[in-house]
Amino acid sequence: LNFNKAEFVTSYGKFSQIPKSDRPEFAFSGRSNVGKSSLINKIFNRKNMARVSSVPGKTVTINFFSVEDVYFVDLPGYGYANVSKAEKGKWGELIGGYLGDFERYVEIVFQLIDMRHAPSKDDIQMINYLIDNEMPFVIVLTKADKLKPTARKARMAAFAEEIPCFEDIHCIPFSAVTGEGVDELKAVIEEVRQD
Ligand code: GTP
Ligand code: MG
Repeated sequence: LNFNKAEFVTSYGKFSQIPKSDRPEFAFSGRSNVGKSSLINKIFNRKNMARVSSVPGKTVTINFFSVEDVYFVDLPGYGYANVSKAEKGKWGELIGGYLGDFERYVEIVFQLIDMRHAPSKDDIQMINYLIDNEMPFVIVLTKADKLKPTARKARMAAFAEEIPCFEDIHCIPFSAVTGEGVDELKAVIEEVRQD
């Protein structure tokens, strides 16, 4: 895949607006502010194609990007406390709809977790959902640049206790700042696409 050829396709605010899946899709899931949009920009080598914001929970849309014959899907971030009930409902409809649509051609879900912190309840719920529904997924540990080596080691040991089936899950440390993990993530995408 030529990641430099990425294009923004559309944003959907309702699951019912999303057309039937006609191409393989790579989805990016995680709590608000974890770094989904930053990761997408990094792998596309773009500054702000997926809009990055320091204000979490701003956009409640699913955003589709295309690269050649596949889609990249930026899911709305969850778990932000200061959102209204209406927004939460919208989020549930979108994510629930998308991840529950087993006719979609979702190749892999990249589940992002902030490397600095223990996973939230929502993160664990998401991971359990992916496991229970046998959806292929990889965990991406974001903001790796913010941890010094000792803190990082401690966090990795803690994740092994906190995340169910951790030893069976492919985990990629990632930083949109240093570029750590970019090649590994792209390699996963290429590998899956060729099967
Ligand atoms: P929502 O769209 O609200 O769900 O958030 P998001 O997951 O798309 O997060 P976004 O990419 O907008 O990043 C949130 C904040 O974290 C921004 O201020 C980014 O600059 C910062 N950030 C993202 N990735 C990294 C990283 O790898 N390292 C550092 N140091 N900061 C990062
Ligand atoms: Mg975002």
